[in-house]
Amino acid sequence: MEPVATPGADPQFPMRGVAQPTRDEALALPGLHVSRHPIIAAKLTTLRDENTTPAEFYTLVRELGALLAYEATADLATEPAPIRTPLEPMVGQRLVGGVGVLPILRAGLGMAEGFRQALPEAQVWHLGLRRDERTLRPVQYYNQLARAANLQVCFVVDPMLATGGSGIDALDLLEAKGVRRLRYLALIAAPYGLVALRRAHPNTPIYVAAVDERLDERGYICPGLGDAGDRQFNTL
Ligand code: PRP
Ligand code: URA
Repeated sequence: MEPVATPGADPQFPMRGVAQPTRDEALALPGLHVSRHPIIAAKLTTLRDENTTPAEFYTLVRELGALLAYEATADLATEPAPIRTPLEPMVGQRLVGGVGVLPILRAGLGMAEGFRQALPEAQVWHLGLRRDERTLRPVQYYNQLARAANLQVCFVVDPMLATGGSGIDALDLLEAKGVRRLRYLALIAAPYGLVALRRAHPNTPIYVAAVDERLDERGYICPGLGDAGDRQFNTL
């Protein structure tokens, strides 16, 4: 596998000349879960389509966020919960501790909304990061993180994992806050970002709907879907 170089050397094309791992190398990474669900694949295809309108795009991001949330929460811990049905007592199950979800603004907002359809009681924390187009490094502009009391796990959600800079910064921040169990969810990931995230956070499970081929010279995922924030919020 080629070493991952730091982007940012060329102000116009920061990824130009930067070696990128292949898709097969990324797919072999430990702790990476790539969805095989046909409904997710079909919705993702509509999402990518350039003819999909911003309103449809936002709806799809929410739906995909909910579907990925189901996949990524399938092994959460539960404990016995004694209740009474209208007919008789029984012992059901409830989640052990709370679940946090941290959308990376802006594009993560739709995914977090979907996540809340799956788990309405999730704590939602917000982190505003925007990529500097010249260096491709994330710049933080907003940070609203709650106390991590009694959280079983916190999910970072963002549709696009490109260079990995935003995802790594978000996970670093949660780790520094003492959140012990973290997971990362994206719709589309580039091999470059997956390798970088795996190196920075070797034990964080990563859930994605698809792994694409490469980053272009400006750091966009190809074939990708374009700019996830702009398409979601109609600011193209
Ligand atoms: C996009 C995307 C990720 C980031 C991914 O956000 O939503 O947060 O880029 O890139 P990276 O893996 O190279 O860090 P963007 O900066 O376009 O902001 P937006 O969500 O406000 O559109
Ligand atoms: N952010 C996006 O919205 N799309 C990409 O392809 C890369 C980063």
